[in-house]
Amino acid sequence: METRRMCCLQLFCLILIGLFVSEIYSSSSIVSNIIDESIGESFEENWIVSKTEDYLAKSKDIVETESKGIPKKPRFLCLHGHGSNATLLEDHFKNWPDFVLEKMDFVFINGPFPVDDGLFEWFTSDEDFANFENFDEGIAYIEDRMIELGPFDGVLGFSQGAVVAGVLPGMQAQGVCLTKVGKIEHVIIISGAKLGGRMFPMPKLAETAFSSPINIPSLHIFGETDIARLNALELVEAYVDPLVIFHRGGHEVPKLDEDGLKIMFTFLKEINAIV
Ligand SMILES: *[C@@H]1O[C@H](CO)[C@@H](O)[C@H](O)[C@H]1NC(C)=O
Repeated sequence: METRRMCCLQLFCLILIGLFVSEIYSSSSIVSNIIDESIGESFEENWIVSKTEDYLAKSKDIVETESKGIPKKPRFLCLHGHGSNATLLEDHFKNWPDFVLEKMDFVFINGPFPVDDGLFEWFTSDEDFANFENFDEGIAYIEDRMIELGPFDGVLGFSQGAVVAGVLPGMQAQGVCLTKVGKIEHVIIISGAKLGGRMFPMPKLAETAFSSPINIPSLHIFGETDIARLNALELVEAYVDPLVIFHRGGHEVPKLDEDGLKIMFTFLKEINAIV
């Protein structure tokens, strides 16, 4: 009888402890949510401040611009990944806050070569990436779209699109392509790779693209578990003073955390998207 009562008591105590622990657990996750939210808010607040300053500076600019015809938002031609398309890539940027997105103009286009229904690529490579079939045609297609939809200030690419975005400025500097459009002033390269690096061979047309360091503002974004991590790094090294957002995620357009946003702001300043 006595042992049975002891058992009941023990069971009761265990249940109490269980309830207590689960209460602590749930309240601590509430606390961390609140912390997350307030970090988000303090960023928004900082941004409202600088947005106001930005706005004041901008309106001053606008007055001056009337006669001189200067600044506008930097315009980027955006190149999606392999087997993707314009709208799918555009969706990925829903992760980025409006106060970043509204500083730039992103124009998304489909690649030239279909791989599936409504899905495209910029060039076709065989299984082991040893050969490209149609690299030159892909580049010519991009130049045509730039003439049609331009002028552009920069190029942005994700994955296969970033392989192309990463090589275009060097090819243009060497005069082998994009001769009928303005200079590419800056690039955003997300999970890219260097042609002629560890993963891809160098197409003949791009042979000289990396013969000297690429000296324009560049923002490189890739993740800890990104399949393109090492390849992306090779591209970083091809640029002068590259800005890098190295995030916790994988092969994706990541959310921008506090560190990511700081680097993003530095980039936006470099390309005069923030005054
Ligand atoms: C891209 O692909 C999605 C999903 O297959 C499709 O809904 C969309 O219409 C396509 N967009 C373009 C521009 O082809």
